[in-house]
This record gives sequence, structure tokens and C-alpha cells, in this order.
Amino acid sequence: MMAALVQAEDISKSYGGLRALDGVTFEVLSGEWIAIMGPSGSGKTTLINILGGLDRPTSGRAIVDGVNVGTLGERQLTRYRAEKVGFVFQHFYLVPYLSALENVMLAQYFHSIADEVEAAESLVRVGLGDRLHHLPSQLSGGEQQRVALARALINHPKLILADEPTGNLDEGAGITAGTASLGAYHSAGDALAGDRPHGRPED
Ligand SMILES: Nc1ncnc2c1ncn2[C@@H]1O[C@H](COP(=O)(O)OP(=O)(O)OP(=O)(O)O)[C@@H](O)[C@H]1O
Ligand SMILES: [Mg+2]
Repeated sequence: MMAALVQAEDISKSYGGLRALDGVTFEVLSGEWIAIMGPSGSGKTTLINILGGLDRPTSGRAIVDGVNVGTLGERQLTRYRAEKVGFVFQHFYLVPYLSALENVMLAQYFHSIADEVEAAESLVRVGLGDRLHHLPSQLSGGEQQRVALARALINHPKLILADEPTGNLDEGAGITAGTASLGAYHSAGDALAGDRPHGRPED
């Protein structure tokens, strides 16, 4: 049987007396696309950060592509994040003084080598072909999010972790930017652990 791409085993995370995660166990197979839903403060970002190697669990294990993420040292974690994970952060974290194109190329550079043509193509795919040289401050919220999406996909990560990826997009843009890109990715056989990937179910 094929091993799951993501195995979350009894993951707990405490901040002092505050229990942000309490024994979370689940699996994600390669090619699966899952949404983690819950109210504000329920631990979604905490869980995504643990899977992505940005935070460590207090107990339990996050195993991604056979690697127990919690046992990696800082240098190995940096490689793990660059090679296996594509992040779309809740607050995008675009570099403010770099253009849309340069933000995507920076992710390529951390992974291997920057390729301007490939980076531009990824921005065309999310509908930003005519915004390549805009700074983040010159882009709308949804456009910034699409740059973050292009950046997350550029290195063909095994695992895409998207923290509320369409929260700032209107329905139409959400479908073109989010669902189309992620859907294409999904059909290419990679997994996505996302938080509300299809918009705002509470609306
Ligand atoms: N570094 C920290 N120190 C202390 N408490 C924290 C820390 N990070 C998060 N928390 C707490 O842990 C809980 C889970 O936070 P988390 O950011 O994972 O929630 P969330 O589900 O992503 O919420 P939202 O939908 O608002 O983004 C919250 O109650 C938060 O206050
Ligand atoms: Mg959050």
C-alpha cells in the first residue's frame, strides 16, 4: 500500500497553558486536496506551520513524504521547506521592494536557480501577465494573493499548504486564481492541505 504523503500522528501544541492543538491525527494521500475548517483561534495556522516545518509540536509527529519533520535541524528544515512545501501564507509575506516577478524568482532561487521565463509564465497562469513589474503595494489584495500562489507553485512542491488562500478573493477571481491553479496542480498528482480553499463556507 502506498504510504500517505502527510501523516499527522496525535499532534498537540501548547503555548504555556493554552492548548492550540490537542491530539490531531489524520492522513493525506498524494493527490488529495483537503480543507481544514474551524473557527478563528482553533489552531488551523498552528497545524499548517507544524506540517510546513515552521513550528514544532509539543507532542506527536508530523511525517511528510516519509520525513519526520519535527526531528529535522534548522538547516534540514530550510531544505525541507524549499524542496517539498509550497506555502500560501495567511498574510502573503511578499517582499515589499521586489516586483511580482522578482518575488516568484526569489522562491526559485532558494530552491535552485531563478528562471525569469518560467516565473513569468507562472504569473500569466494566475492572470497576472500584465502585472509582472508591479510592487506588492501596487497590487490589489487578491492580486497579491495570486502572486503568493504563483510563488507557492513555482518549484512544484509535493505539498501545498495554503492558509485561507481565497479569503481575500472575490468569487470569480477565486475560481480563476485559486481553483484553476490549484485544481491543475491537484490533477497533476500532488496534495494540498488548505484552509477554506473554495472561499468562505460561512458566507
Ligand atoms: N505564539 C503563540 N503564543 C501563544 N499563543 C498562540 C501563539 N500562536 C497562536 N496562539 C494561540 O493558539 C490558538 C490557535 O491559533 P491559530 O493561529 O492556529 O488559529 P487559527 O485557527 O489559524 O485562527 P484564524 O482563523 O483566526 O487564523 C489561538 O488561540 C492563538 O491565540
Ligand atoms: Mg490562521
